[in-house]
Amino acid sequence: MALLTLTEAELRERTSLKWRTFEPDVLPMWVAEMDVHQHPAVVDALTEAIRRGDTGYPHGTAYAEAYAAMAEHRWGWRPEPAQIRRSGDVMNTMLALLVGSTAEGDHVVINPPVYPPFWQVVTGYRRHLTEVALTADARLDLPAIEAALDGPDRPTAYLLCSPHNPTGTLHTAEELTALAQLCGERGVTLIVDEIHAPLTDPGQTFVPILSLPQAQNAVVTFSAGKGWNLAALKGGVMIRGTQAEEVFAQAPPLANQSTGHLATIAHTAALTHAQGWVDDLMVEVAARKRLLVDLLAEHLPQVRHVPGPATYLAWLDCSALGLSHPRNHFLTHGKVALNAGEDFGPAYGQFVRMNLAASEEMLTEGVRRMAASLS
Ligand SMILES: Cc1ncc(COP(=O)(O)O)c(C=O)c1O
Repeated sequence: MALLTLTEAELRERTSLKWRTFEPDVLPMWVAEMDVHQHPAVVDALTEAIRRGDTGYPHGTAYAEAYAAMAEHRWGWRPEPAQIRRSGDVMNTMLALLVGSTAEGDHVVINPPVYPPFWQVVTGYRRHLTEVALTADARLDLPAIEAALDGPDRPTAYLLCSPHNPTGTLHTAEELTALAQLCGERGVTLIVDEIHAPLTDPGQTFVPILSLPQAQNAVVTFSAGKGWNLAALKGGVMIRGTQAEEVFAQAPPLANQSTGHLATIAHTAALTHAQGWVDDLMVEVAARKRLLVDLLAEHLPQVRHVPGPATYLAWLDCSALGLSHPRNHFLTHGKVALNAGEDFGPAYGQFVRMNLAASEEMLTEGVRRMAASLS
């Protein structure tokens, strides 16, 4: 069954951020919520739990075991139980790891353009940013990273987004190994957000950083919330490399408190029963990526866009359109809601991020509205 086929009328019944932030005449193609039918195993697990009155606190290792089984199934790598711990959602886990391993006033490296909460989790907690932008072809700039790690900021932690949001970049084993070594040699805590890991195009390979022997100093945050569209149910796991025991130990003791029991149940059901669902989904997303390329060529040839091999997000460079603020322009004059590029880094005000986890009809209508807004 095709997954991205819900009609606009069906979707407008939803009450979440994506669907209720803007007026009904606006087509929402922004925040990372997917327009999917949920997997029946998840629906059943949640329904059964509510029926049982099973609405207490989370318990046990089922989520961690389901993560390990998924890692083996998808990536041929299986962490030991002692390496995995139930934690909070990805951003709260990252915050806990950051607070535990750095001090106020420390510098933390991020790679703009990057998911806006990466900025906030650093500056909001009295740490400072050291920005090392991705290269023009959206890869890690290893020479610049090395220079930053040895520079006057002397960063003590690094936040990596893998795969990278918003560009959909898949970091290679060589890049990840080199980065882990650069951090390891300098005692820099390497925290890797792998929430988008299951969302790879058909034929593309995601490399879990902890599958690499020379990256065992890293710690990973993961949640099924993104891959299975379960953001409403906050939860996740953290996984440590074999040489990162102390990063786990330093995380504040309440680091798992943002996970609810229903989230654990739903995420575990998704990881256990819905691996094929994500693969089917990404076949559809890959088709949307091809459709977007065609639509841009036809209607918005000035927009520069290189589809990434992971995530369901598209990063569009609108510089050639000559708009003072592309996102505001498309919202006001096209009635299409996209994410503003500057939220991913101040240098990216001419970019917008588009969410492709939508029906063909909506994607087509979204690009049509963007083009019409220019005339
Ligand atoms: C890279 C990345 N990390 C984290 C999150 C949010 O995860 P959580 O709700 O588990 O904090 C998102 C959501 O889109 C994301 O794209």
